[in-house]
Parts: sequence; C-alpha cells; structure tokens
Amino acid sequence: MQIARSIAEMKALRSKCAEPVGFVPTMGSLHEGHLELVRIAVRDNPVAVVSIFVNPTQFAPDEDYKAYPRDLDRDLAMLDQVKTGIVFIPDSQDMYADGYNTWVDVNGITGKLEGKARPTHFRGVTTVCNKLFNIVQPHQAYFGQKDAQQAIVIQKMAADLNMNLEVVVCPTIREKDGLAMSSRNTYLTGSERIAAPVLYRSLCLASDMFSNGERDAGVIRKAMIDLISQEAAAKIDYVSVADLQTLSEVDKIEGNALASLAVRLGKPRLIDNIILG
Ligand code: PAF
Repeated sequence: MQIARSIAEMKALRSKCAEPVGFVPTMGSLHEGHLELVRIAVRDNPVAVVSIFVNPTQFAPDEDYKAYPRDLDRDLAMLDQVKTGIVFIPDSQDMYADGYNTWVDVNGITGKLEGKARPTHFRGVTTVCNKLFNIVQPHQAYFGQKDAQQAIVIQKMAADLNMNLEVVVCPTIREKDGLAMSSRNTYLTGSERIAAPVLYRSLCLASDMFSNGERDAGVIRKAMIDLISQEAAAKIDYVSVADLQTLSEVDKIEGNALASLAVRLGKPRLIDNIILG
C-alpha cells in the first residue's frame, strides 16, 4: 500500500497507475461500510485509491469538524488489510491554500432534506469531490447508499459537468440490529445506541406498507413518525417520502420513491433511507 501525503505525491503516483482506477473518498474513522466500498473498488479495478480527508468546507461553524473522530493509524491498518493500492491523505492547507475561492454548487436538490438542515454542506461536498476527482482521476468513484442525497448530488454534478467517471452507489452496510454504519455512531451513549435501530425499523415499516400496496406517501410518513415517536429519546428532524430525482416530497408514489429520515438521539443526528419500489 502506497501513501501520498500531498497533492503532488498523489499526482506522481497516479501517473504510474495501471487503469482503470477506482476511488473511494472518505473522511476516515473507517468502518465496515467504507471497507465494503474499498473491497468493491479493489475487485473491479487494478488500482484502488482511498482518500482520507476531513473536509472543513462541508461543516458549518456550529458542527463537529473539530470533534469529528480521527484515527489514522487504525484507518491505515484497515485499508492495508483490504489491499488498498494508494491512500491519499492531503492536509487542509494543500487542499484549500490561502486565497482559495472556487466552489461547485449543484442547485435545487441540495436545498432539500439534508440541505435544508445543513445549507452549506453540499457545496463543500461537491467542491471537495470535484477537487479529489481532478487529482485522482478515477474511472469509477464509489459512494454508499446510506448518504442517499449525497450520492444523488454527486451523480448530478458528474452528469452536469460531463465528468469522465462513473459514480457507483453501493448498498448500505448495517449492524446486526439494522443500524446503518456511520462514523458518527461512536457519539451514541449506551441508551442512545439501544434506541438507534428505531430509524431502520421505521424504514422497514415504510417498505412493508409499500409492498402491501400502500401508495399514499402521507400515510407512510405518518406511520413512520408514529413509530419513531415511541422512542422518548428520538427527536425527528424530518421524515420524507420523496421523488428519487428531484427529492421533492410526493403525495402519491408512482413507480418508486426515496423514504429517508434524520433523527436526533441526544447529541448525534442520524440519517438513513430506503428505496421504495
Ligand atoms: O461521505 C463522506 O465521507 C464525505 O462527504 C466525502 C464524500 C468523503 C466528502 O468529504
């Protein structure tokens, strides 16, 4: 496993790579969900590059940029085990030098769901992914379905900007009790962790209702809210049944839809989703 600690080092390694190149962008604090993306990238490409960069521009000033969990030694050991070819670990000054002032903004869909609660978040994500794609020049970039809106936004950016890469979205990896794996799960206290699978239970309820013929999105949303409300610690930010392309809320489900939610459990705010249909 080779390690590039600067953009220049990464570009030098990239110039010698066999192709195609698979790329998994991460913010570190890796878990099985990340490793599954890396395994797929390794399986499908002669070289898999993983970036570890806690991107400051996707955190609002009141969010957890400073506290975001970081453990580079552990991350590197995990990446070595799944046969990662190159790990790219740039620092903030290299990525955002003094005077940095260029942004990539996907309009419309970034104002919905997560974008409503975190208005500057996606601009940071699309900007850093664009920069990482330019540096790593992957043929395929791998994202998890867990961050459904992020994957849809990146796909839209890649299509709108005619990027020469395929955005591959891979299934959410879950704990045994259904909780979607996330680096932020480490913030959960013991009792919050016990309550946390309520998110997945509500998505399974939505999926069962859909399978049994329910197409009224309002009825599905209400059933999800009622179920989550049984957990005293859970504070709902949103429960959504939305169009998969526009992310606008739907009244009636035609074909398919994205059921998604954000719920606060104490300090952490957890998100999850499932596709209906
Ligand atoms: O999903 C993440 O970890 C981040 O948003 C990403 C895609 C690595 C960009 O910083």
